Amino acid sequence: MARSMDIQPEKALPLPPGAETVEADEENPLAPIEKLCRKYGPVTGFQTRFGYTVLVSGAAEVREVLFNPGRFKRFENLRLLIGNGLLQSEGPYWRAQRRLAQPRFHQKTVETYREIMARAATEAMTAWEAKGLTDGGPFDLAREMMNVALPASLESVLGTRIESRTEELNQATFDVMYYMAFLGNPLFAAAFGADSTPRARSAMKLFDELIMDIVHRQRNSEAKDDFLSLLFAGRDPDTGEPLSDEQIRDEIATILLGGHETTSVMLMWAWYCIASNPEVEQRLHQEWEAVLGGREPTLEDVERLTYTRMTLQETLRLYPPIWGLARRALGEDSVGGYLIPKETLLITTIIELHRSPEHWDEPLRFRPERFDDGNAADIPKDTYIPFGEGPHTCIGKHFAMLEGMIAIPMIGQRYRIVRESAKDAVPHPYITLRPPGGIAVHLERRPERR
Ligand code: HEM
Repeated sequence: MARSMDIQPEKALPLPPGAETVEADEENPLAPIEKLCRKYGPVTGFQTRFGYTVLVSGAAEVREVLFNPGRFKRFENLRLLIGNGLLQSEGPYWRAQRRLAQPRFHQKTVETYREIMARAATEAMTAWEAKGLTDGGPFDLAREMMNVALPASLESVLGTRIESRTEELNQATFDVMYYMAFLGNPLFAAAFGADSTPRARSAMKLFDELIMDIVHRQRNSEAKDDFLSLLFAGRDPDTGEPLSDEQIRDEIATILLGGHETTSVMLMWAWYCIASNPEVEQRLHQEWEAVLGGREPTLEDVERLTYTRMTLQETLRLYPPIWGLARRALGEDSVGGYLIPKETLLITTIIELHRSPEHWDEPLRFRPERFDDGNAADIPKDTYIPFGEGPHTCIGKHFAMLEGMIAIPMIGQRYRIVRESAKDAVPHPYITLRPPGGIAVHLERRPERR
């Protein structure tokens, strides 16, 4: 691989095998990633306009990178948006913030959000009626799943409701994520138009304004048992001072983007997969009928909705919302027996782990049964990591799963979500995995239960 760098002669390790350049595929930008990983193996290198980049797709190699944040630091592509929030910070500051936030995300605590999640799903469906979406007109599933997930994230995590400005915050979040994709994705940056910048900057300004509004409003209200109150009570590990407005803003932006965006993407793909697989849809309806009989799920029901859980797990396999995690080598290093020059950008490709025929039988087929408890032993170690692995593993995974387990049956018992187009949606590797134009669907009301 032609590359100008100083490799000292005594270092015997070779650079990862790879390609000189990679042809971008605008229709299916994931295709070149897949091709490279399959052709060159678990560690492969290539040039992008951002410099030398290494794709890490082997289970053991991904593990090595993600379990060693002291060697492979997170790529700071989100810093512009979430500053030094939990998703971007490192070292002692990260550790202190993670310790501070953790109690809000324990499974038992998260379960107390069930009611909020159920109410958010009901309110979203009421809004669909008000907007005329239940009359058979097509709408964008991606956008509407953001509307389902956002109020639940906000109220559960921040203990507040933004009511009138929900649409604005949704729009701003959406635009900001698009901008982040443009800035932060070195592989396919060329596929995004530079004209998105001014729109995204104003979205970011609005996003900040909305968040600071929540902070100021809540700072003066009495302390509650919510995430924001935890942040108000938190201390900067370096100075011992209370967290500044800016630090609190960064943590909130992190939770909103880390939590809301990803969860709405999971819900979107879950509906897409259900709508594309009638036999799965049928089994889900049988389960909901047997366990719920038209009710909203209680926590005990959630335990019994095993096929719903498997459907979500399979969705996260085939369409992991975070398709890859970017890291930067702090010093000269090695992974899987290959030389990794200092400062190299590494992308651990979760999606390739999840779709590789090496690990999965018929990997592109949507088959929730893979996650049946009886089949768990067939899933090789470290090949299914939708929530990451290692010290930075997702703090909100119980939250996201509970949200799915509540929202999917509640919506599904009332409506069928039907695809408008027979053409498959092609996932694009923005920061989260989304199809570029959203997914057009319409609703069919399910028969009223007597
Ligand atoms: C389906 C939904 C979700 C997916 C697929 C997902 C995925 C991930 C992944 C892959 C990571 C690892 C990042 C890394 O190693 O750099 C992560 C970290 C994180 N996630 Fe999630 N996430 C989801 C939902 C949530 C929710 C609901 C929240 C909060 C309410 C959340 C908050 C976070 C935070 C704060 C981190 C950083 C943890 C740390 O560095 O200590 N996520 N998530």
